[in-house]
Amino acid sequence: MKSFQKGLGLGTLGTLLLIGTVALIVVLTGAYNVAADDGHTPITEWALDTSMTNSVESRASNLNAPEFTQAMVEAGAGDYKAMCAHCHGGVGEGRAQWSSGMLPHPPALANAAKSWSDEEVFWLVKHGVKASGMPAFGGTHEDRALWNITAFVKNMPQMSEEQYATLGSAGGH
Ligand code: HEC
Repeated sequence: MKSFQKGLGLGTLGTLLLIGTVALIVVLTGAYNVAADDGHTPITEWALDTSMTNSVESRASNLNAPEFTQAMVEAGAGDYKAMCAHCHGGVGEGRAQWSSGMLPHPPALANAAKSWSDEEVFWLVKHGVKASGMPAFGGTHEDRALWNITAFVKNMPQMSEEQYATLGSAGGH
């Protein structure tokens, strides 16, 4: 029994060493294709999406969103149009053509905002998402401005094209 356990231990160690060596070879030889137009394998896509969702959920869970007012939605509109719309589109307005070349594609927030809580949207805007192209705006904007943008984003799914067009003015920071 003892020697069986020992064999099992060595076998596991050997497998781990092999995995480590293969991973190191892939890193050092550049075998992994980093091209944004190459797509991800389904398993990589699942791993990236799931860890992104769970990471944001757990980190945003200790935040407390303020009650959103119409004034906040209006205050966030100009910033959204100046800093987000080229990647995420608006209501009745697609994103800039070049942003379709990004991987992951920036989702259309007029729809995707529904899948995230107020706190999660705020967290995403403040901290960004590593190696995805989603910038962190926390270094350049105060929380108050970020909550205004969040209020605007969370209201987008209910907005008509006219409301979207009239709110705020593209200008920006
Ligand atoms: C240069 C392009 C770019 C800009 C500018 C940008 N984003 Fe993003 N954003 C992305 C990308 C790419 C993702 C997808 C990240 C991922 O799936 O890992 C993303 C994801 C998000 C998400 C999560 C949505 C989802 O379902 O995955 C939110 C919310 C978001 N951005 C809000 C904003 C807001 C608000 C702004 C402006 C303050 C902004 N973004 C500016 C590229 C951008």
